[in-house]
Amino acid sequence: MQKLAIQGGIPLRGEVHISGAKNAALPIMCASLLTADTLQLSNVPDLHDIATMRKLLEQMGVKAVAQGNELALQGGQVHKLEAPYDMVKTMRASVLVLGPLVARFGEARVSLPGGCAIGSRPVDLHIKGLQAMGAEIHIEHGYIHAQVPKIGGSGRLKGARIFFDIVSVTGTENLMMAAALADGVTVLENAAREPEVVDLANCLRAMGAQISGDGSDTITITGVEKLHGALHRIMPDRIESGTFLVAAAATGGSITLRDARADILDTILEKLGEAGACVRAEGDHVHLEMSGRPRPVNLRTAPYPAFPTDMQAQFMALNAIADGSSMMVETIFENRFMHVQELRRLGAQIDVEGNTALVRGVSHLDGATVMATDLRASACLVIAGLVAQGETVVDRIYHLDRGYEHIEAKLSQLGASIRRLK
Ligand code: EPZ
Repeated sequence: MQKLAIQGGIPLRGEVHISGAKNAALPIMCASLLTADTLQLSNVPDLHDIATMRKLLEQMGVKAVAQGNELALQGGQVHKLEAPYDMVKTMRASVLVLGPLVARFGEARVSLPGGCAIGSRPVDLHIKGLQAMGAEIHIEHGYIHAQVPKIGGSGRLKGARIFFDIVSVTGTENLMMAAALADGVTVLENAAREPEVVDLANCLRAMGAQISGDGSDTITITGVEKLHGALHRIMPDRIESGTFLVAAAATGGSITLRDARADILDTILEKLGEAGACVRAEGDHVHLEMSGRPRPVNLRTAPYPAFPTDMQAQFMALNAIADGSSMMVETIFENRFMHVQELRRLGAQIDVEGNTALVRGVSHLDGATVMATDLRASACLVIAGLVAQGETVVDRIYHLDRGYEHIEAKLSQLGASIRRLK
């Protein structure tokens, strides 16, 4: 188990490059299954989850060639229409191969992802949507078997009107990809509005798909016969951006994000302003300056454009040292407060009641050994370690490597005292 050892108390200062967005790159990599041509991607982040997705696609027959942050994927020789359990269990986003496989090949066999630390995370909406488009789906031995009936049908999915009972990011992405090659028009209602959905739609349009309304809660897709290759640059990671901004605010520092996008950080920047930070955005630069103790900030997570659940844990580290109390409500996942126990070990005063955490700010945290439980909880503990007095050791940081490219190198560049212990 690798660990990170952090000496707290140093304000972060300087510039940091923001990498490509993990949650845009993952669905876009799956889009390579929709065409026999080559999908040429740039600004792909160097992350464990990206490597896992690449392995999954290669075992299906996709040809992958990586060069730094460039990745070429060619789906001409796909021969295995399956995502096995041992790969899906390590990364739920593997379910994103389901829609493209059924759309292009008329069948797929994808392991049910199972739950994860932050919640049960079912995929019933993905399945319901494909059934509405004519796929016959049955679940057996932990696998989703999907088949488009050939007899009497074109063997292709058909357009449908699909209403999401719950806003689902990958549910929207899976069905948008499936609809791109279906016969007829599909309308996704109560669709996810996340910027990563828009980035996927931009990539699909570059491949010849006919999609409109992405970024709103109603997306219309008119299926086409075939899709072709394209060039696409992955958008910047808004959660990585938010994570570094919160770390700078918590340590009372002054940093500039490079290659970022301020227009998709609205609620994060607004909440940082409430906490007392001065934030300025110019083009692809976002600058944050913070002096003194943060003010407490109440927040409630909800689907985009509201405050993102993926930033809740990071903000809790900031609220833990604020000069007052704050209420934090997690409405997306049923178990996304596992960082609370670990923050308490550092001296934080937090009470949890259901999906609400009451955080009473303390003047300082004391370094200790803590354990990462999921990707964003790990980021929260790193931020807490950056402000705690003395040394904090964060264990099980493989969670962190899934979603943050070279995090200790980037933090060291900003002046943090942080090192990886084998
Ligand atoms: C995506 O997960 C992100 N992952 C998550 O980021 C993010 O936290 C989440 O969206 C919410 O923004 C990727 O994009 C790869 P959902 P996803 O479907 O799509 C329920 C990270 O840290 N639901 O939007 O799996 C579900 O249980 C990760 O990078 C159903 O009930 O989330 C949850 O309560 C963590 N049935 C809610 O909807 C379904 O079929 C939202 O989930 C699908 C979802």
